[in-house]
Amino acid sequence: MSTAKQFDVVVIGAGPGGYIAAIRAAQLGFSVACIDEWSNDKGGPAPGGTCTNVGCIPSKAMLQSSENFEHVGHSFKDHGIDVAGLTLNLPQMLKRKDGVVKQNNDGILYLFKKNKVSFFHGRGAFAGTLDGSYSYSISVSGADAGTLSAKHVIVATGSNARELAGAPFDEKLILSNTGALAIKAVPAKLGVIGAGVIGLEMGSVWRRLGADVTILEGLPMFLGAVDEQIAKEAHKLFIKQGLKISLGCKIGQITPNGEQVTVEYIDAAGAAMTAVFDKLIISIGRVPNTNGLNADSVGLKLDERGFVVVDDDCKTSLPNVWAVGDVVRGPMLAHKAEEEGVAVAERIAGQHGHVNFNTVPWVIYTAPEIAWVGQTEQQLKAAGVAYKAGTFPFMANGRARALGDTSGMVKVLADATSDEILGVHMVGPMVSELISEAVVAMEFRASAEDIARICHAHPSLSESTKEAALAVDKRSLNF
Ligand code: FAD
Ligand code: NAI
Repeated sequence: MSTAKQFDVVVIGAGPGGYIAAIRAAQLGFSVACIDEWSNDKGGPAPGGTCTNVGCIPSKAMLQSSENFEHVGHSFKDHGIDVAGLTLNLPQMLKRKDGVVKQNNDGILYLFKKNKVSFFHGRGAFAGTLDGSYSYSISVSGADAGTLSAKHVIVATGSNARELAGAPFDEKLILSNTGALAIKAVPAKLGVIGAGVIGLEMGSVWRRLGADVTILEGLPMFLGAVDEQIAKEAHKLFIKQGLKISLGCKIGQITPNGEQVTVEYIDAAGAAMTAVFDKLIISIGRVPNTNGLNADSVGLKLDERGFVVVDDDCKTSLPNVWAVGDVVRGPMLAHKAEEEGVAVAERIAGQHGHVNFNTVPWVIYTAPEIAWVGQTEQQLKAAGVAYKAGTFPFMANGRARALGDTSGMVKVLADATSDEILGVHMVGPMVSELISEAVVAMEFRASAEDIARICHAHPSLSESTKEAALAVDKRSLNF
């Protein structure tokens, strides 16, 4: 007789996709297990995945701390606050960041208990198929070793940083996101390869703390996926802050030599360049993680890039096996993973879980922040859609002036005939929060006129969204 523990749903991975799927499945009345192998520095469980441990949460903690440091050093004076003897206590900043991560790890363990999700600390792998009502056998190796039987399996094993050929991460000189969030002393010269989301966020953190930051980007354009007008504005502002961004670089040999790392590259003009850095962050995208899942043993289909193949409903090639988050197609974002996790749990329960990929917001947490939802102007042009655009600069917003942060703008794109909002793009203060209004509006298929007619509190940054919506019809009031 088998000693395997039996569950309706076994989730492999406790990142935002997995832990949320586990909680939602438990809320729906299923018996649920969630397996995750991430350990903290004491060897204990650290659920929350990349997002909690080396992604969203610690990066935002460091972004906030470094922004505070920069404000005290620069903008406080303008507010009439003179601070003498400002110093950086980096060990304390890193300790605080680690504390924020631990609060999130502990919070997830608490939520598992509250929702009666059985947590297993260790690596989960397919161990075969079963006859009868339980479909799959899942092995757990590690602290909570054992075997589980599952009616349904949700694969939520996430992603890892992509390495550059010939420059493996050593997390001492050549850093992935993991090392980039734990540098022990501010490097005098920091190199970053890849001017994407991580490159800009991490580059901003270490520049604010005093590093001379050079970002080498392969593509000739800056933030190609972002609305061009917004990307141009952001590029200008980042350069003004002191980030050195070289576009159109072809990276060659990377040579670490104990204390420093040398990067050879061809710049956009075709000149051979050599740069020497104290640390080098490589942030050129992420690859799906199916290591150790033993996917082959059950015939789980992966695509040529290693993603688990799923349909629109997150169903894999196998019956009763689902996959969500970074390990499947679509944007690698925590909130996208969460939405898929909820939808899958609801589909297992026979409900109609739904994810609207057209309204997944993006945020880059630099200062100013960049946020958008829906189509960019260049996408609309390429698709031949007739549209109207309205923009409003934060310079003309009273709250932004009071904050002392007037950089950037809000831009609303609406269908030329129906006035339905097709995209909203922002660069400026706190736009990570402002973008939610645009997401709600687009979910309800609102017109620009709808936002223009809604009363927004004064003075608030959100008035800029209303003004940009008014500007679609050329009737902005404050600009
Ligand atoms: P993950 O979070 O990667 O979790 C997968 C989990 O599965 C991990 O804990 C892993 O250990 C575990 N696992 C894998 N294989 C096994 C196995 N066989 N057995 C047991 N456990 C296993 N997104 C945002 O939306 N906003 C942000 O601000 C943001 N900031 C980021 C900053 C950085 C520096 C990085 C790197 C990423 C950031 N992201 C952000 C992206 C976000 O972290 C991911 O999209 C999100 O974590 C994906 O969630 P997931 O559940 O699919 O996978
Ligand atoms: P990215 O895809 O955002 O950016 C990678 C950049 O590297 C691109 O600009 C690309 O053109 C460039 N690049 C690729 N190969 C190169 C090469 N050989 N030489 C020079 N440049 C090269 O990937 P990134 O920054 O690593 O982040 C991974 C993902 O993590 C993001 O796409 C996002 O999904 C997620 N993330 C989300 C955040 C957020 O929501 N705020 C924050 C950080 C990460």
